[in-house]
Amino acid sequence: MARKKIALVGAGQIGGTLALLAGQKELGDVVLFDIMDGVPQGKALDLAETAPVEGFNAKLSGTNSYEALEGADVVIVTAGVPRKPGMSRDDLLGINLKVMEQVGAGIAKYCPKAFVICITNPLDAMVWALQKFSGLPTHMVVGMAGVLDSARFRYFLSDEFGVSVEDVHAMTLGGHGDDMVPLIRYSTVGGVPLPELVKMGWTTQEKLDAIVDRTRKGGGEIVALLKTGSAFYAPAASAIAMAESYLKDKKRVLPVAAYLKGEFGVNDTYVGVPAMIGAGGVEKIVDLELSSDEKAGFEKSVASVKGLIEACKTIAPALA
Ligand code: APR
Repeated sequence: MARKKIALVGAGQIGGTLALLAGQKELGDVVLFDIMDGVPQGKALDLAETAPVEGFNAKLSGTNSYEALEGADVVIVTAGVPRKPGMSRDDLLGINLKVMEQVGAGIAKYCPKAFVICITNPLDAMVWALQKFSGLPTHMVVGMAGVLDSARFRYFLSDEFGVSVEDVHAMTLGGHGDDMVPLIRYSTVGGVPLPELVKMGWTTQEKLDAIVDRTRKGGGEIVALLKTGSAFYAPAASAIAMAESYLKDKKRVLPVAAYLKGEFGVNDTYVGVPAMIGAGGVEKIVDLELSSDEKAGFEKSVASVKGLIEACKTIAPALA
């Protein structure tokens, strides 16, 4: 069986980490694409020279030409400008929308059968635009945000309880912004939901509220520390988990930015929801019953995503 092909559009901080993880996990051969001459080539060569030491088999190459994406099975898009300190995700809209237009055209031409994972911010609006620009089926284009947001939530919870991260499961809904909705009721430690742990005296509601707040601001916390860029290890690991579920037909249920056609009462919008990812792309959306508080939070988050989508339509009337 021929190896799978993974195309990484954007060979920056996340792109390089994606290539390393895809290689180490032997998910397939990796093509790094970027507009910067030499950067994807240099990173690919450096990583190819890592393979003998780490002992993985994957062909890694770097390119400035969309042609090299030909026949890719998975495309992960990080092309664009990352958030700088003091810059909101929304400030990035205009710049990164143009990038999505170019990337969408490249994917449509060279790998229209691929499963596409978008990471570029502002995430929910960019994945919406990328799907429209590429014309790929909506179930084959997703955004990576919820796995990362939930991973942050899981880490903070494991730290609070002093338990293994493996036994902490967490769910976040909504857009990838400060109004995302970490779902306390659906998050568990060793299978025990968080509200039960409050009753059992393991933690307090105040501490949980502080963790929810830190989760919402998790991206900004890293930006403030790094000063010259945004998070890249955990975002890359999160997108690789999604790619692996598709390539291996694992049918994992992961929080992803998926296209909604009436689920959760939302239409023609990408927003974070639990979805099953398998060989068919997004195979199922888990249309959860929400409490009135959760619903209010989710609706607020959807409204801000819709605001960004409307702004995209104003900037690029072709999308309207
Ligand atoms: N086509 C291809 N690549 C592009 C384009 C384009 N039109 N425009 C920019 N790039 C490349 C840049 O040259 C750079 O190498 O995208 C890469 C982005 O890499 P970084 O600046 O290192 O950003 P990174 O930290 O990887 O984050 C990428 O993910 O989390 C989001 O907000 C973040 O949108 C950003 C993205």
